[in-house]
Amino acid sequence: MKKFIIRFLSVFLLLLGTANVFSQNPKNYSVKSPDAKLNFEIGISETGLYYQVSKNGKLVLAPSLLGLKLKNSEIHKNIEIKEVKYAEADDTWQPIWGEETQIRNQYHQMLVYVQEKTNLKRKFIVNIKVFNDGFGFRYEFPEQKNMKDIVIMDELTEFNFPEDHQAWSIPYQTEFYEGLFKKEPLSKKDTISTPVTIETKSGQFLALHEANLTDYAAMNVYPDKKSSHLKVYLTPWSTGEKVFTKTPFQTPWRTLIIADSAGDLLLSRLMLNLNDPNTIKDASWIKPGRYIGIWWGMHMKKYTWEPGPNHGAKTENVLRYIDFAASHKFAGVLVEGWNIGWEDWKSFEFDKPYPDFDIKKITDYAKQKNVELIGHHETGGNTLKYESQLKDAFKLYRKYGVTTVKTGYVGGLLDGKEQHSGQYGVRHYRKVIETAAQYKIMIDNHEPVMPSGLQRTFPNLMTQEGVRGQEWDAWSKDGGNPAEHTTIIPFTRGLAGPIDFTPGTFNFTNTALPDTKVHTTLAKQLALSVIMYSPLQMASDMIENYENNPAFEFITSCPVNWSKTVVPNAKIGEYVTIARKDKDSENWYLGSITNADSRQLNVPLNFLNKNVKYKAKIFKDGKDADFEKNPYPVEILEMEVNSDTVLPISLARSGGTAVILVKL
Ligand code: NOJ
Repeated sequence: MKKFIIRFLSVFLLLLGTANVFSQNPKNYSVKSPDAKLNFEIGISETGLYYQVSKNGKLVLAPSLLGLKLKNSEIHKNIEIKEVKYAEADDTWQPIWGEETQIRNQYHQMLVYVQEKTNLKRKFIVNIKVFNDGFGFRYEFPEQKNMKDIVIMDELTEFNFPEDHQAWSIPYQTEFYEGLFKKEPLSKKDTISTPVTIETKSGQFLALHEANLTDYAAMNVYPDKKSSHLKVYLTPWSTGEKVFTKTPFQTPWRTLIIADSAGDLLLSRLMLNLNDPNTIKDASWIKPGRYIGIWWGMHMKKYTWEPGPNHGAKTENVLRYIDFAASHKFAGVLVEGWNIGWEDWKSFEFDKPYPDFDIKKITDYAKQKNVELIGHHETGGNTLKYESQLKDAFKLYRKYGVTTVKTGYVGGLLDGKEQHSGQYGVRHYRKVIETAAQYKIMIDNHEPVMPSGLQRTFPNLMTQEGVRGQEWDAWSKDGGNPAEHTTIIPFTRGLAGPIDFTPGTFNFTNTALPDTKVHTTLAKQLALSVIMYSPLQMASDMIENYENNPAFEFITSCPVNWSKTVVPNAKIGEYVTIARKDKDSENWYLGSITNADSRQLNVPLNFLNKNVKYKAKIFKDGKDADFEKNPYPVEILEMEVNSDTVLPISLARSGGTAVILVKL
């Protein structure tokens, strides 16, 4: 039930003096988190509008500038605070799918009404929401006489960290965000594409990102003069401007999660809370599921996308995958290379199958077998052409009962001109997701703009790439993803939303590129199904590699939709254990993984229901398992456990443990 109480009536101010030192300004306004531990303060100094944030009295952010730079003027100096309003909310909402069934949205809010002192009297509001686990703020520009069409040249927003913390990030312009997260002090970074995750010396964990990126450019940051003082840099249009808009408008939320442990970062729902509620009234067609695909075979060069003797999408091959999916209860089969255009990656047609892909026969067969064909639209980055065919393309798929489409944007710049993360790209991705919703189609977006929680508003946006996924282990010239990669990305890219990482390798031989491989054990591949949250979860290997392997049971029985999530232990870059409760049963699933070091962990199962017995089926690294020498051994054992059990977990080098906990 929604509770929204105006706490204080408006505070009208006649005049606000300037102060040289922001923190000593008696006319600052502040708002505390519901538990009163966080304090967000805002005020005006000689150089402009500032904010600072503290937790338990200690600065998390030192005075940091707020404001926007417009085409012909800045809007942050010579201003006054005209009014401040406070409010609070505490409600709980139910996502259509997710890592839990209930999400609490509890915050204290401060709305700061700012106006220029010049004749133009342009005005904006800084809307601040402070939660127990962090804050978000955004700029809101109401309709007004002297501000209509606006060209934003940049945001002046800053994040001034008082110490030079260690941080994990990838640089701005990392192609499709497919980079390795580097840990180094903030001041050493060149540029940063958010989310950036920070560990302070005092053991705090912070994650800076944005929420509700709509018709705006994505936020990047960079250290000012090689310090820990970060400034915003919005992804520009090819012409240099950042955002074209008109009043009324609002920017995305600038968010900082402030957590006491790395695990708590994963449990923060601040980003989702700062997105708009679901707009899809009848969401019964939106169904999380596990899928296989004619996919890894292309990346391993066994099949081709384009027609020829080894064309992966040949009807008989697709039927074989459908049979396998049906016998192992997979919801869908992804087929890439089904449509015209793969010869040159430029002339894709989204409604024209290759002659050896019989879409009618395939979808009729799939229907009989209670499996769905998952569609694929690789655009090569030609968004204009794709938009011109979008409705027909979705119509065609709907006609054949296809309700999930993977989209792709491989190519330097969109339409040869614009960056994926600029306003141009943001508009395009949004249009595809909204149009897909009209056709009741779920989306798995590859080469996306960095996610920012839009799946709350459009829950047909199931999962996205925007990560250096497992496909790099097929063809990357640097040998593939290092062992620690999967112990970092849940805490970085993972904070931005579901990841289509595509785990599931059972055959570690790469005949095409023998020096490139998956750097994990097989048991770790199982555990990744729990660790890498995605409501559409792929088992990525070719189906023949799963036949007759008892470890496959973990993949086929692991759900993709959860009622609860807990993180019993985590150290970014070293290890992480996550346990999730199935949304449709009383069973729990646990995954635990490590980096290149073997290790022993003791995991208390205190998240289980009290006074209940569970059968634990454990899939662990077997004798001599080692990601470099012998990734294959998996030992499967069963034991009875309860909430008092402390489960000893022993992980091989880049190993894993996956556990099914069935309530007895
Ligand atoms: C890159 C995507 O990430 C991958 O999954 C896909 O197979 C290729 N593009 C071809 O579209």
